[in-house]
Amino acid sequence: MTPAELIQAKRDGGVLSDVDIRSLLRDYAEGRVPDYQMAALCMAIYFRGLSSAELRAWTEAMLHSGASLDLRRVPGKKVDKHSTGGVGDKVSLVLAPLVASCGVRVPMVSGRGLGHTGGTLDKLASIPGFCSALPLREAEAMVEDLGMCFAAQTEALAPLDRRLYALRDVTATVASVPLIASSILSKKLAEDLDGLVLDVKVGSGAFMKRPEDARALARTLVDLAAAMGCPAVAWLTRMDRPLGQAVGNALEVAEAVEVLSGRGPEDVREVTLALGAEMLCLGGVSPEPEQARGLLARALSEGRGLDRLRAVVKRQGGDAQALLAGLPRAPLHTDVRATADGVVASIDTEALGRAAVLLGAGRLRAEDSVDPAVGFTVLRTQGDRVRQGEALLRVHHHAPGPVLSEVLARAAGAYRLADVAPPAVPLLLERLEAHP
Ligand code: URA
Repeated sequence: MTPAELIQAKRDGGVLSDVDIRSLLRDYAEGRVPDYQMAALCMAIYFRGLSSAELRAWTEAMLHSGASLDLRRVPGKKVDKHSTGGVGDKVSLVLAPLVASCGVRVPMVSGRGLGHTGGTLDKLASIPGFCSALPLREAEAMVEDLGMCFAAQTEALAPLDRRLYALRDVTATVASVPLIASSILSKKLAEDLDGLVLDVKVGSGAFMKRPEDARALARTLVDLAAAMGCPAVAWLTRMDRPLGQAVGNALEVAEAVEVLSGRGPEDVREVTLALGAEMLCLGGVSPEPEQARGLLARALSEGRGLDRLRAVVKRQGGDAQALLAGLPRAPLHTDVRATADGVVASIDTEALGRAAVLLGAGRLRAEDSVDPAVGFTVLRTQGDRVRQGEALLRVHHHAPGPVLSEVLARAAGAYRLADVAPPAVPLLLERLEAHP
């Protein structure tokens, strides 16, 4: 079938064959199918979806568009974690070294911030000297020597996803369950994994705002991973408020170091221990999550995760001393204050994430650079009682001006105060799993 016939078939609810999907994606990768036809197909998929056989063929074609890590010679199981993205989500920075220090290998390939959400690569880039553009062979060597690496998705790994993602970003076709699932798994399964843990965020700061959409994405992700030979566990976790107190790159690295030092916010620790326990179980280090949590808690209290992070930072060219004192800091701060007495009923977390991007902590355009020093400290969160005039959120910035005024207005507007506290909702909402 020609590309136009394939688009028409999908538009009308048809099912595409493996051969058609493979040859279309190969022709797109090699420049024989133009962006406008691929954009039209993505829109047809957005409305019509993909069957599980189509989704698998699509994901395999994306995965095989590039190279993969080859970790066969590295002993032990390799397990990674992926978050669908949130505000203040610095869990990977804590989790990877902590889990690696407990004996499971973590070949972590991460991305930059996307839309209003932060990215692990941008956070790591705030460590002076740190380099995440690892050649594949060096990433493999680090997994062997240190049990982990923090690598960037380069041209080598799933290059078709980079192109397709950029196209989807400007054609309103990001929020499609099969396209998100194939995008995530084409990158993660290129890591030669024995297991994958997925943190599917749900709420005002997530791409999936409604639990039923997050659940559908989680189900698709674990089933697809299992169909492609990788055992997978997904947790739906709340993203209707920032995770932890820090939002912004260097601020989040500092908070991750706090958690690795046995301190830091309880919610970051809670998500880290839950996801880490799943990783230890998938990695065969622990038979069940409760025991795994004990191992992780001990590693945290002994500082083993922090030691591993320091070693990884050093190996990747970064200044490990700077982790404790020496990260970039904005010189000024201004507080957003409560305009009345009340309880924080809700936080529009996407609006807060967008305000952080505007401040410089993320990108408005793909080619923008990120300011490592700016960001927010969330001083009051959902459910907290506040008095008029009390500080809700601290904005770390370089200078007053129209941008700061806009950021302060948006941050203030993201908080909704009420007379009564909202009902308490657990941080970890639901667990799904699938095995090959
Ligand atoms: N994260 C990804 O890697 N891909 C998507 O499509 C959405 C979120």
